[in-house]
Amino acid sequence: MTALETIQKRHSVRTYDRRPVSEGIRNRLQQLLQEHTTGPFGTPVRFRLLDLDSVSPLEFKRLGTYGMIRGAHLFIVGAVKDWQGSQVDLGYCLEKIILEATAMGLGTCWLGGTFRRSHFARWMQLAEDELLPAITPVGHPAEKKSVSEALVRTGARSSRRKPWSALFFTGDGKTPLTEDEAGGYRNALEAVRLGPSASNLQPWRIIKDRDGCYRLYLEENRAFNRGLGKIRLQHLDIGIAMSHFELVAREQCIDGWWNPFAPPVYYAGLEHLALWETGEGEENGNKTG
Ligand SMILES: Cc1cc2nc3c(=O)[nH]c(=O)nc-3n(C[C@H](O)[C@H](O)[C@H](O)COP(=O)(O)O)c2cc1C
Repeated sequence: MTALETIQKRHSVRTYDRRPVSEGIRNRLQQLLQEHTTGPFGTPVRFRLLDLDSVSPLEFKRLGTYGMIRGAHLFIVGAVKDWQGSQVDLGYCLEKIILEATAMGLGTCWLGGTFRRSHFARWMQLAEDELLPAITPVGHPAEKKSVSEALVRTGARSSRRKPWSALFFTGDGKTPLTEDEAGGYRNALEAVRLGPSASNLQPWRIIKDRDGCYRLYLEENRAFNRGLGKIRLQHLDIGIAMSHFELVAREQCIDGWWNPFAPPVYYAGLEHLALWETGEGEENGNKTG
């Protein structure tokens, strides 16, 4: 499966089959958690695999998802330092793990709001300077969705995505970028468009600037993004977009990387996140794998 096909296949799974995840798959997941620990900002990301079968009945009850997730016994829990860019890095790393899990036929679901954060934090032995922005269940998808899952999907209009004309622009920041103008980046941009985002708000914007370089921006919904204290769900969304763009661009033999430390170009109402660097100037970039 290509990266773009995996991205097309991934969707949030909230109802899981009771069939246990084999030891071989668990081992592979553990390996992935060790491999994906650095994002574009270079902050450390820490993951642990939580097996609900190994906790006490009381803890099992506490480590809940408010009924949002049914039947899952395994969760990936992610923690980062409360540093600049760390939540973008978590979004980037966890999405890479999620796509690997998708390619293995497993279901996942980003959870940034509907889980008991304080109990997961205790289980994670969260340090004082750390944040626990998100978790995901991982397991075999059930054949039939629960009623609550169907309702959540309808409520969040989960199957819908904004059109290109609302997401990608040329150098004036207002004129939509056409698929033809995107040339070799067409699939990389399409991969961004298809990404999951908190409440499906799709806050990423990409501008092909006057020099032909791609720049990534956040159109923040402030009330939404600042509603959970220090947790910034829309910065996770940005990390997800970065991973999609990069995976698909590299698959198309475009050798580049996101540089969040490049001098920004500002547009009204948008937060500059990173410049996509290619070729020359490589020594200035912060390359991630
Ligand atoms: C950062 C982030 C946080 C999310 N938090 C939740 C959540 O707390 N509860 C939930 O049911 N879904 C959550 N989602 C899932 C989104 O609602 C879902 O990705 C979106 O509606 C698109 O649907 P899809 O994943 O099936 O493509 C979250 C997604 C992201 C990316």
